[in-house]
Amino acid sequence: MFLLIFAMLASVIAFLYYLLHMKMDHWRKRGVPGPSCYPIVGNFGEMIMGRRGINQIYSEIYRRYEGYPFVGVFKFMIPVLVVRDPDLIKCIMLKDFGSFQKNDMFADKNVDPIFSRNPFVLEGSEWKARRAEMISCLSPAKIKDMFVTLEKNSRNMVHYIDKQLTNSNSFDVTDILRRLLIENIAACGLGVEGKCFEQEISEVKKMADYLITAEGLDSFLIAFWVHFPRFSKLCNFRIFTQEIEDKFISIMRSTLKFRKDNNMVVNDFLQAAAQPYSEQTLSTDYDIAAHIASLFTDGYLSTANSMAFILFELAVNKDIQDKLRAEIIECYERNGGKFDYEDTMRLEYLEACIHEGIRKHPIVPVIPKICTEKFTYSPTNPEYKNLSVTIEPGTSICIPAYAIHHDPKFFEDPEKFMPERFMIKNGINKYTYLGFGVGHRMCIGSRFAMTQMKIGLAHFIKNFEVKTSPKTRYPLKYDPWYFVLSVRDGIWVEIQNLQDK
Ligand code: HEM
Repeated sequence: MFLLIFAMLASVIAFLYYLLHMKMDHWRKRGVPGPSCYPIVGNFGEMIMGRRGINQIYSEIYRRYEGYPFVGVFKFMIPVLVVRDPDLIKCIMLKDFGSFQKNDMFADKNVDPIFSRNPFVLEGSEWKARRAEMISCLSPAKIKDMFVTLEKNSRNMVHYIDKQLTNSNSFDVTDILRRLLIENIAACGLGVEGKCFEQEISEVKKMADYLITAEGLDSFLIAFWVHFPRFSKLCNFRIFTQEIEDKFISIMRSTLKFRKDNNMVVNDFLQAAAQPYSEQTLSTDYDIAAHIASLFTDGYLSTANSMAFILFELAVNKDIQDKLRAEIIECYERNGGKFDYEDTMRLEYLEACIHEGIRKHPIVPVIPKICTEKFTYSPTNPEYKNLSVTIEPGTSICIPAYAIHHDPKFFEDPEKFMPERFMIKNGINKYTYLGFGVGHRMCIGSRFAMTQMKIGLAHFIKNFEVKTSPKTRYPLKYDPWYFVLSVRDGIWVEIQNLQDK
């Protein structure tokens, strides 16, 4: 009996080992180079041990394979092709987009009716239609209309900081900027006040934080969903819990009703999102809510954290901060002591500082794609080894934006904060600067984000000097679990009101 059990166990183990081995042979059989890995955990064992984050692991693999156009790795049992050659990035994101139409993300319409309507997770004709609708909500003319609100909120941020300065001059700038972003999104997206500069935690901020920040109850589940979309299909995971969904739709409905009853036309994002849906049904409520929700899930932390990283770099690089302040003050004074839309948008050095901040700290450090149609690639650039690969439908692709942004081959002295590199005409290969992505699925909100960042930073830098403080951690230590580049303990700087100097 004992022998029989032993033989059965041995056969099961041998069979499992054979299956694992077959699977882990995936890249070797296709002639794709890559590091050796362990069964089950693949190349991500260190992530499970909590020693390294996913971005760190991809970045190290990227660096180790200098000269290779791509590298094959295993995210646990899933084969992933890590792209190194910018020409292949161009194929995936633009030229041969037909073979790579999907992001490697998933949300089920029956489980999460709001998030499943987000362009990030959609594909095919539905993606095209939702993307087009959202782009029209964020047209240059609509953003210009919203500028008045964004400018007012930025001024309120300055008053808020001024008040806080009576208690302390050491701040976590991510906290301040998240407050600003919620004010902007609540006003433009839901037609309500965020009240983030008045009370400690407003209802809208609570909702936004629960939705997407690392403090949210489900931060582990969110990370799991991002990194293993196929597994999360099995556990009915939803970003918008029933409670948040109900709250969200109820605020949205009451604002739209109030506007209708009072014949009010407000030129904001909410109005534009509701425009195509004259009939009010649950399905159309979801459609409108999904656009607004996108401001929270895609546009909140991304914009707030990017601004915080930029302020951190300005605190470390005083000469750059002074040069930027001179440009901002000149613009402010030229306009008779205010910031107007056109001139603020034209601030060149500010724009370069923003792009350089996003280059050094890309909010989406790895861009996940999935192959939708068979595709064969052989590099033509002699700087890469002459290897070819046939990518099959369903294969996961990783575009390691962070590693590419820190590759000295594309960005000289990559650890240095040098906005000037973004001021040289044609100085940057656009397939190596991936802060907002490129090609057909490029970020929909980049113009809106740039507008918020420009006016927010213009007010900040005009009024305050930022310096490193004893609490500043240098270099920054990113949260290894969180999929949006974040710093777990905040970004601490010292703030001084320039009028008190
Ligand atoms: C500094 C702020 C932001 C950064 C750095 C950023 C970055 C990105 C990146 C890297 C992508 C992936 C692009 C690709 O796959 O090629 C993306 C996609 C997207 N972003 Fe943003 N984003 C920002 C703000 C926003 C805002 C404010 C919104 C909404 C209003 C937004 C909405 C979206 C959407 C809907 C997509 C998916 C597009 C698609 O798949 O068709 N983003 N963003």
